[in-house]
Amino acid sequence: MISKEIFLPEISLLIYAKSQFCTRHVRTMTGPIDTAVPIISINGLEKSFGNQRVLEGINLEVSKGEIMVIMGGSGCGKSTLLRHITGAIAPDKGSIKLFGQEITTMSEPQLNEVRKRFGILFQSGALFNSLSVGENVALPLREHTKLDNTTIEIMVKIKLELVGLREHADKMPAQLSGGMQKRAGLARAVALDPQILFYDEPSAGLDPVTSAEIDQLIIDLTRKLDVTSVVVTHEMDSAFTIADRMCMLDRGVILKMGTRREFEALRDTPPEQLAEEQDRLIRQFLRGDAEGPITQRKENSDYEEDILMVSLRRQTK
Ligand SMILES: Nc1ncnc2c1ncn2[C@@H]1O[C@H](COP(=O)(O)OP(=O)(O)OP(=O)(O)O)[C@@H](O)[C@H]1O
Ligand SMILES: [Mg+2]
Repeated sequence: MISKEIFLPEISLLIYAKSQFCTRHVRTMTGPIDTAVPIISINGLEKSFGNQRVLEGINLEVSKGEIMVIMGGSGCGKSTLLRHITGAIAPDKGSIKLFGQEITTMSEPQLNEVRKRFGILFQSGALFNSLSVGENVALPLREHTKLDNTTIEIMVKIKLELVGLREHADKMPAQLSGGMQKRAGLARAVALDPQILFYDEPSAGLDPVTSAEIDQLIIDLTRKLDVTSVVVTHEMDSAFTIADRMCMLDRGVILKMGTRREFEALRDTPPEQLAEEQDRLIRQFLRGDAEGPITQRKENSDYEEDILMVSLRRQTK
């Protein structure tokens, strides 16, 4: 007779698999957002690279269970902010708390313990090209757990099923489409059942349908697995689909933070009714309009002066 001890892990794996499987079929559950518990808390974060000030005093709180979308133009510092929150780079100034713990003063081993509690979907997908899709997902389980090979194999199947890639476990990353690579990256990011998921441009470069599928996956994972999500994006359709709250980053500062409703209201207000230049700038970004303060700012840049200085220098030589 087969003993209970042999059966028990299989049974708990099955229950686990079932709970994760349901994730793909829950479409619009409202998750429990606990605004009393800031799971991420950033205060006075500053960072310069050489003479370039990239982050100029960021204050941001993300509540447990919410999807926070960080928006902003190219080069405004979104990825840099994410790299600080995930402990990849250290700030010049300021505090970053994850799960109530200050990470800016942590040693590398301490940081590694915190890193086990969050997953990252990188801007590029960042799969290891020499490993199969299944091995990519298995990697964090092999590195950070003592699970045996069979259990890891089952876990990999569960995570790949979650993102609709179970049949593609043996393929190499180069054999996947861009959307499939993003989904494989997501399966790897959730391998250790993280409490926070960070996404850097999850739908960049994808067709509208695949992009909508990724959006739905982000919502489903957040709600069903009780995860907190921080999503960096400049795809506005995606932002307005997934966000509970949004924040707009510009030139290293947060111009506005608010609920999705507040940002929708700003997007839909005629510009002549907006007294503040800052609100008109955010509105232009949200709508993707060709004209507005952002365009004006580019026109007013020191481009002409820069060119004139070069020719002036040549004349005086
Ligand atoms: N390691 C680094 N060394 C020097 N400069 C850097 C470094 N990382 C980022 N920067 C600079 O910081 C600025 C912000 O970069 P970042 O990657 O955060 O922008 P982003 O908002 O994510 O842009 P995008 O939407 O194009 O991804 C850029 O001007 C970039 O050149
Ligand atoms: Mg970026």
